[in-house]
Amino acid sequence: MELKIGLLGCGTVGGGVVELIRMRADKIAAMTGFYPIITDVLVRDLTKERKVQFQHERLTDQASNILDNDDIKVVIETMGGIEPARTMILAALRAGKHVITANKDLIALHGPEIIEAAEAARCDFLYEAAVGGAIPLIRPLKESLTANEITDLKGIINGTTNYILSKMTESGANYEEVLKEAQDLGYAESNPASDVDGLDAARKLTILAGIAFGAKVSLDDVEVKGIRTIAASDVAYAHELGAVIKLLAVGKDDGKSIALEVRPSLVPKSHPLATVNDAFNALFVHGDAAGDLMFFGRGAGSLPTASAIVGDVIENLRNISMNIPSRFRTGPVASRAVRKGSPEPLRYYLRMHAKDQPGVFAHIASLFAKAEISLETVLQKRAHDNQAEIVIVTHETPSAALSSIVEQLTARGDLLEIKNVMPMEKGDA
Ligand SMILES: NC(=O)c1ccc[n+]([C@@H]2O[C@H](COP(=O)([O-])OP(=O)(O)OC[C@H]3O[C@@H](n4cnc5c(N)ncnc54)[C@H](OP(=O)(O)O)[C@@H]3O)[C@@H](O)[C@H]2O)c1
Repeated sequence: MELKIGLLGCGTVGGGVVELIRMRADKIAAMTGFYPIITDVLVRDLTKERKVQFQHERLTDQASNILDNDDIKVVIETMGGIEPARTMILAALRAGKHVITANKDLIALHGPEIIEAAEAARCDFLYEAAVGGAIPLIRPLKESLTANEITDLKGIINGTTNYILSKMTESGANYEEVLKEAQDLGYAESNPASDVDGLDAARKLTILAGIAFGAKVSLDDVEVKGIRTIAASDVAYAHELGAVIKLLAVGKDDGKSIALEVRPSLVPKSHPLATVNDAFNALFVHGDAAGDLMFFGRGAGSLPTASAIVGDVIENLRNISMNIPSRFRTGPVASRAVRKGSPEPLRYYLRMHAKDQPGVFAHIASLFAKAEISLETVLQKRAHDNQAEIVIVTHETPSAALSSIVEQLTARGDLLEIKNVMPMEKGDA
């Protein structure tokens, strides 16, 4: 039996979905009893040249051709952005259509509202592609690992920043040069703020943490720092310290509260996340029964993202065939206390410029001693203009003590300037 699908948006991801559904239609029919056909495709510009060759699919710039068409039972949204995607998805659900999306921005902001609408309509709302592209993350957290109390999420979930940091590490070039190259190659957008300021990773962390920790979390709960301040010298010092710099998304649930952070970190080369390069993504998960798990793969791209979307289509068609759509409460279930800053002591890397004069280093050392923060490594190099560059790695330090010492060092602006502060991960997972 044919099952008609409407596609909202046909760019990088939508084009991959058209291709993959066509490639796998017979297999999907054999698995689910439904032969999937994309009948109508919504775009903004009907005259635009497209990579995908359309066959029977009708191209339209009128959403009503899909949303008001009772023959269409499933809607796939790959337009992106908040509006009009939100309004169209809600309209599709109200019309009794199942919805599949890759739209992390929308889910991070309006997930609960849409999930509620899906449950009220007894429709599926599936979004495996929203985090980690091809990597199965949502379904393992929602289904396979539900017997666990999940305590830790730690990963690289933004391909653009991982590409930039990988290239800075390979070439020794500075941030601006590599960003420009990434923009020329299409790996970074012309306005890269959402990626390089850590917001894209924060949105994805919000989605993952909501499911993993069974909690209501919002974007405001995430402490976010991006990669704009990473200098070529930080990358070089990281190398000297046996580490690489990665933008990590970290979620921790200690039973009392949840802490969520996106921040650049020094990752020792012996840590599995240190080897995740370019546009690849990876996520570590710790469950009390399962122990450590690592998910790794392509975090973006046309067919990798379509792989996750079409996987959701197959789940949805199976659910329809058994008359059990909306079988999971997919949304966050409880309000939990959220705390800022890492709940556990971490090692920290600090790079500062100090006046190259007697007594300055002794003063810095005395501040650390007074704060009872012991130092693991100290590197001192002569910079220029009568400035010395000092790099310190602390032993494990509570985040409050670190904030206090940073405040005290910053107060001595006459003597020194803090250039960067980042946590340094342990050597293993
Ligand atoms: N790219 C990836 O690798 C990737 C990975 C994971 C998740 N995602 C998510 O997937 C979604 C799509 O990303 P993408 O890279 O495929 O975007 P894209 O290449 O820019 O494609 C967007 C498509 O939506 C259409 N569209 C946008 N606004 C519209 C409107 N108001 N009315 C009608 N059509 C509209 C565009 O039409 P025109 O073609 O006529 O302009 C285009 O076909 C986003 O939510 C993104 O976050 C992307």
